[in-house]
Amino acid sequence: MGGKRPWTFDSKDRILLVGEGDFSFAASLARLHPGVGIVASTVSTAIDSLEAVQNVEAIKSQGGAVLCGLDGKKLHKCPFLQERPRFTAIVFNFPHSGGKMRMDRNRHLLRRFLASAKRILDPGGRILVTLCGGQAGVPVDVPSREYGNTWQLPTQVATCGLRITNVHPFDGDAFPGYRRTGYRSLDKGFHSYAALTFEIGAQDEPDFVRRLWRETRNVRALFSTTDSPMAGLVSRLRDSAPDLRWQCEDTLLTEFDQARCTSLCEDSVLLFAIRTKSGSVPIKHYLAASSKTFLGHFSIFLNESKTIDDCILLDMNAAAKLHFRLEDERQLWFSHVSPSNCISFHHLFPPKFTYDISFWTDGGHEPAMQSFSRLTADHWDLIRSWRVLDRYASPEGRSSTTIRIAYDSPHLPLSDWLVKFFHLKVLKAKLERVKGITI
Ligand SMILES: C[S@@+](CC[C@H](N)C(=O)[O-])C[C@H]1O[C@@H](n2cnc3c(N)ncnc32)[C@H](O)[C@@H]1O
Repeated sequence: MGGKRPWTFDSKDRILLVGEGDFSFAASLARLHPGVGIVASTVSTAIDSLEAVQNVEAIKSQGGAVLCGLDGKKLHKCPFLQERPRFTAIVFNFPHSGGKMRMDRNRHLLRRFLASAKRILDPGGRILVTLCGGQAGVPVDVPSREYGNTWQLPTQVATCGLRITNVHPFDGDAFPGYRRTGYRSLDKGFHSYAALTFEIGAQDEPDFVRRLWRETRNVRALFSTTDSPMAGLVSRLRDSAPDLRWQCEDTLLTEFDQARCTSLCEDSVLLFAIRTKSGSVPIKHYLAASSKTFLGHFSIFLNESKTIDDCILLDMNAAAKLHFRLEDERQLWFSHVSPSNCISFHHLFPPKFTYDISFWTDGGHEPAMQSFSRLTADHWDLIRSWRVLDRYASPEGRSSTTIRIAYDSPHLPLSDWLVKFFHLKVLKAKLERVKGITI
């Protein structure tokens, strides 16, 4: 007995347990955390086994409360809960709507539970949902299943405007006395192989993120915002190559031919320029030599443009992505660097969506694509990438282009509804205003 508990509580916590079977988990938690306010609940209207009666006694003897007939989809409507201060943790272990292979019902249960729990959650509180391995539909699931064959937790979470902020292996042995039960407390246990507990939160973004989002939405501010990881990286680069003349001022970016930058490095939203004293070669050597200790492998793009001489374009996004071991370089703009130099993620397993859009280009393909590129760059927080799927030139000299856009966000909880709204309404309306493009 006594495995590792993934989460701890202290005396300031107020915990609501939803969908308890025989209350053995709640009783164990109450014994482990005497003094913590616990409300344990079941959807059943009766306490129907001797074990459950004993566990309820144990919870009450530790000062906890027990509720019967509480529907996890309607927590916010319960007068008893409404009268209490909001909960700092709301726990639902192994939610299941009953029956076999009713994926749709389980997704529905999850979504409605999350939406309701959010309404009685303390700001900064967390919802803890434990699922069997493979049910959630996340990359760390064992066994790994097709997303369509799962309960699609990331989608349910994002649809409720919440974020998955952490994930832990769930070890039932860490809760002495806990006995997994089925739909009713009389049922026999179920397999919980490779179970995972997901921490789900509605926390606001940290200050830095909010400030950036509200005040600037401007990538250039990152160089002057001292607590941004990008600024940190720039200053380290600057320190390690003092003999170089650095040009990372805001104005430099505006000198660039944006379209040229985009074509040099398609996936990069931000390019950073370094101008050397004596030409472009030394810096290339310098960075290569220091790469082991500093940035690891990264790409350097030599500027082919004649407009800026002796200039190397270093794809700072790619470099920083490697340096901070990021999955998504856009996190650079929305994350703090922790003391260990790792990015803390605000949003794990963000759902991904793909939608196509077609339009006519009247004044030539290239100018239209440049406009499209600029438009999508404005929405980097939703649009991960795009690619031309198809082009068709009509005999009358018009050409049509179909583009596939990949949507996801490193920080916003994106639902399918929100993405569709953006794609079909916002993006379309913006494109209709672009010269040379007709939808
Ligand atoms: C697989 S059992 C897990 C029981 C218990 N949490 C455990 O860890 O042993 C699924 C639980 O979900 C509960 N449940 C199903 N629908 C519910 C709902 N709408 N509200 C609250 N609980 C629900 C069932 O009553 C059942 O206890």
